[in-house]
Amino acid sequence: MAYENANSSNTGRQRSTGRSVASEISSGFEGRTSSLHTLSPYIGKMRPEIAAWAIECVSEMGDLIYDPFCGSGTVLLEAWASGRRAIGTDLNPYAWLISQAKLNPYAPKSEADVDLILDAYASEAAHDSDAAQLQDVDPWVASFFHPETLRDLLGWVSTLSRHHDAFALACLLGIAHHQRPGFLSYPASHTIPYLRTSKFPESEFGEMYMYRAVLPRLKKKILRACSKMPDLDFSIQRSVELCDAAALQVTERVDAIVTSPPYMGQLDYARDNRLRLHLLGVKNWEELNRDVSPNAAQFVKQMGQCLDAWRCILKPGGTLAILVGDTTNTTRKRLDTLVTDLVTNTWHDYELDQVLESHIPDARRARKNCKGSQSESLLVFRFRP
Ligand SMILES: C[S@@+](CC[C@H](N)C(=O)[O-])C[C@H]1O[C@@H](n2cnc3c(N)ncnc32)[C@H](O)[C@@H]1O
Repeated sequence: MAYENANSSNTGRQRSTGRSVASEISSGFEGRTSSLHTLSPYIGKMRPEIAAWAIECVSEMGDLIYDPFCGSGTVLLEAWASGRRAIGTDLNPYAWLISQAKLNPYAPKSEADVDLILDAYASEAAHDSDAAQLQDVDPWVASFFHPETLRDLLGWVSTLSRHHDAFALACLLGIAHHQRPGFLSYPASHTIPYLRTSKFPESEFGEMYMYRAVLPRLKKKILRACSKMPDLDFSIQRSVELCDAAALQVTERVDAIVTSPPYMGQLDYARDNRLRLHLLGVKNWEELNRDVSPNAAQFVKQMGQCLDAWRCILKPGGTLAILVGDTTNTTRKRLDTLVTDLVTNTWHDYELDQVLESHIPDARRARKNCKGSQSESLLVFRFRP
């Protein structure tokens, strides 16, 4: 269902007033999802179709789009793929890496191209593997892998990090844990790291506990990630910074901010990515979690700081489009209502233009039986200083 706010004022940019997200998507965006969005899992990801649709609604070709809470870079990639320039920020190093990867993908013409790139790293990775100190690895991390797989994995992580190859590194983290043969861990879940050793005991599933070579699996993963590439113009400006959403400095004001903020402590962006973060050198996920998964009170404070900072980032007349779930929290207020009230009551220069809603299918939830959002709303504000 979609409804317009009473003070909705159409500018030339808006092309979707009064239609629901669902109908917009089915009429043009469904099925356009790129394989690049499947590089590596990330909780709380925006649906690419919604990102594409939101971008189309609030901007034009050549515009500069900013996603301050960019997560896995869904908005950034969709903005780039639709001819917009894109900037993102996120405080989570794993999110930053996936976003970097999506903005700097390989574009192999054949399997041989991937072989060529990865084979060139192989001897260095073998050297780094030999140098890896397995005894220094935290036992909970080591418990996910055959020791020789872990050795290979650590070697590849250090080689790809040294070469700043974000794309291959993100793909490597994408195969870090799962129960399928193309992945590196003992049987485990894919998104959030839990071992599934009770479901798949070693006595019955011995092959799932054997050494798994990294290189052939990484090559296949890269080919899968590149199997459905959008039409990308590599000359378009795009970047992502590892920094706070209220701290970005720009030399040019942006035309639109399109984002989905962290959901008031409901999702744990560091805890649930702790194994991949550990491989990236973040040993203390608890500390990071406090910053990236704010509780209700911290969320209100954080949004206030952002709304203030974004006044120096957004062009006058530009759009702020925020995607929020319908979650209620300790405040007993729906998140979409809370954000709308927060913005319009305190920050009078952001005017609510329209609100659009979309139902979240159960199949898309990362956690079963979670008390998560049943629907998402796109809140569209105009910045009129
Ligand atoms: C709802 S997720 C964004 C998901 C993203 N749209 C996607 O499709 O993957 C919110 C993101 O905000 C990030 N975050 C939380 N607090 C932040 C802050 N103060 N500054 C920058 N990023 C922050 C989290 O790390 C998380 O990646």
